[in-house]
Amino acid sequence: MNDTTIDRYAVIGNPIAHSKSPAIHAEFAKLTGETLSYTAELVEIGEVKSFIEHFSSNNGKGLNVTVPFKQDAFQLATQLSKRAQRAGAVNTLHIRDNIIFGDTTDGVGLLNDLTKNHQQVLKNKNILIVGAGGAVRGVLEPLLLESPVSLVICNRTVEKAQQLATDFSSFGNISACGFADLQDKKFDVVINGTSASLTGDLPPLPDNLFSDNACAYDMMYGAKPTPFMLWATQQGAARCYDGLGMLVEQAAESFYIWRKKRPETQGVIEKLRQELTP
Ligand code: ATR
Repeated sequence: MNDTTIDRYAVIGNPIAHSKSPAIHAEFAKLTGETLSYTAELVEIGEVKSFIEHFSSNNGKGLNVTVPFKQDAFQLATQLSKRAQRAGAVNTLHIRDNIIFGDTTDGVGLLNDLTKNHQQVLKNKNILIVGAGGAVRGVLEPLLLESPVSLVICNRTVEKAQQLATDFSSFGNISACGFADLQDKKFDVVINGTSASLTGDLPPLPDNLFSDNACAYDMMYGAKPTPFMLWATQQGAARCYDGLGMLVEQAAESFYIWRKKRPETQGVIEKLRQELTP
């Protein structure tokens, strides 16, 4: 194999050492019979533009973009998908014919994990999403397109939730509230989109939040159930999932954008789960 002609892909971030993306895309390449390289690249703050220029002139065809560069990627893309425009963030760049095409695959990733891998039906359901940062903004459109009865965004800083509800109101029945407003409310699907799990914290959610047969989903994942999942189990949620499947599904969508081939994800999710287990 001639390494100077192989199509190159990478994930950029800072830090980046623990990224699972190279392992995931290596599996996808194997499964689909595609020949490519995919690496994790540490990029210094302020150097995304020069990195992309150098990468694209060295057979770089596509990038995944993670913290803290999603906004930079949004600015540097010369073309944006509609969903990236609405999400206001980019996690996938496709470099072709002097165009840097920016897209976001997080929303599709969550939706595919919930509806395909976990067979959850969102139509006519009451959904609560907790948090109002970039991670939540990226998933609102595909959730609303599933036609839930209602989608409530709850956030510590209520104004941020209100802004999101306003921005996505044309897609369906969406509203905003603070944690105190959740007393006596019940939901069929509760999604934790806060970064609280990163610090081992739990958002201040009230008891009795789950309807019968409810589903709890944490967009974060780890070797052990997250604090939110432990709480949801104790509160009687019928099913609890973490975001490992979302991670693999968003990667599969990026792979599809680049290679026009859709890899099987189930085996990859299982493999990652085994590797996580201590
Ligand atoms: P991301 O891009 O991952 O969404 P972010 O934009 O920093 O990151 O957003 C983090 C989200 O988690 C916010 O909604 C934040 O609430 P605030 O907007 O009020 O800051 C929420 N969050 C973080 N830690 C939290 C905690 N311990 N309890 C509740 N919400 C928390």
